Amino acid sequence: MPARLLPGGPVAERILAEVSTRVAVLKDKGVSPSLATILVGDDDASAGYIRIKQRQAAELGFVSPHAHLPADATQDDLHQAIAAFNDDPAVHGLLVQYPVPGHLDYDAALQAVDPDKDVDGMHPLNMGRLALGMPGPLPCTPAGIEALLAHYEIPVSGREVVILGRGATLGRPLAMMLSQKRPTANAAVTVVHTGVPDWARYTQRADILIAAAGVPGIIQPEHVKPGAVVIGGGVRYEGRKLLPDVDESVEQVAGAITPRVGGVGPTTVAMLFRNAVIAAENS
Ligand SMILES: NC(=O)c1ccc[n+]([C@@H]2O[C@H](COP(=O)([O-])OP(=O)(O)OC[C@H]3O[C@@H](n4cnc5c(N)ncnc54)[C@H](OP(=O)(O)O)[C@@H]3O)[C@@H](O)[C@H]2O)c1
Repeated sequence: MPARLLPGGPVAERILAEVSTRVAVLKDKGVSPSLATILVGDDDASAGYIRIKQRQAAELGFVSPHAHLPADATQDDLHQAIAAFNDDPAVHGLLVQYPVPGHLDYDAALQAVDPDKDVDGMHPLNMGRLALGMPGPLPCTPAGIEALLAHYEIPVSGREVVILGRGATLGRPLAMMLSQKRPTANAAVTVVHTGVPDWARYTQRADILIAAAGVPGIIQPEHVKPGAVVIGGGVRYEGRKLLPDVDESVEQVAGAITPRVGGVGPTTVAMLFRNAVIAAENS
């Protein structure tokens, strides 16, 4: 029997409805929530992502000031643009669109963002807050996955979660989140990676298997315990084509699974706006 599908759309809708309500409350108090964006260069895909975020920001009631730097901008130019938004008290959230042109250091730019305006939740200080269980903006994709599991009432507490991939964007912060003492987390979490050549031994016993490798088709039916919940976080793009980590055939073995398109992605974007409205509330 094919697995139950767990689309991200309804999860994102619920999160965004809550964001929209919180934006309205702030506006009633005279605060105009603002999410600033910085784009460097003219990459079509990046410009498209910025347009989508700006449109969504406007729909939710955010102001979204934007700085577009030329492809040959220097690291200094980028840091000046970041500093301008950091120093502007009317700006509550700030994101630098990834990737930046090859001659620029994205990690250095990320570290220059005011941690309290870091809507991606990826600033080292925010990763530290997460590790310590302190409040702060959460990394969007892991937070989206936790929200997705909670939305579909998939029990996590006390269960065995295995994450394939220990990357800084997804696997590592997700492991920190799902092992925390909260009703929607509280799991026995194992993280596997290229240092564990027999990783299938671990994934085969997972109640919840989360793919976070970015290797198309790496998760095959034989890696999955029958009836397990499978969350496809890892993807690779070939041009505009999205290639998920989880092979299509896994649907025949899993009990529940995120769809190949419209799974984790929509929840990631929703969490960005959730971080932004919280930043505005805290300002
Ligand atoms: N859906 C979304 O909205 C969304 C958002 C953000 C990111 N993502 C995706 O999430 C994925 C992870 O991103 P990231 O930045 O956290 O990770 P990353 O830095 O790309 O690291 C990938 C991880 O997967 C492991 N891995 C790769 N190939 C493997 C193999 N053959 N066997 C076992 N482990 C393997 C690597 O192991 P080693 O550490 O040993 O090298 C590494 O830990 C990417 O595909 C990214 O596109 C999706």
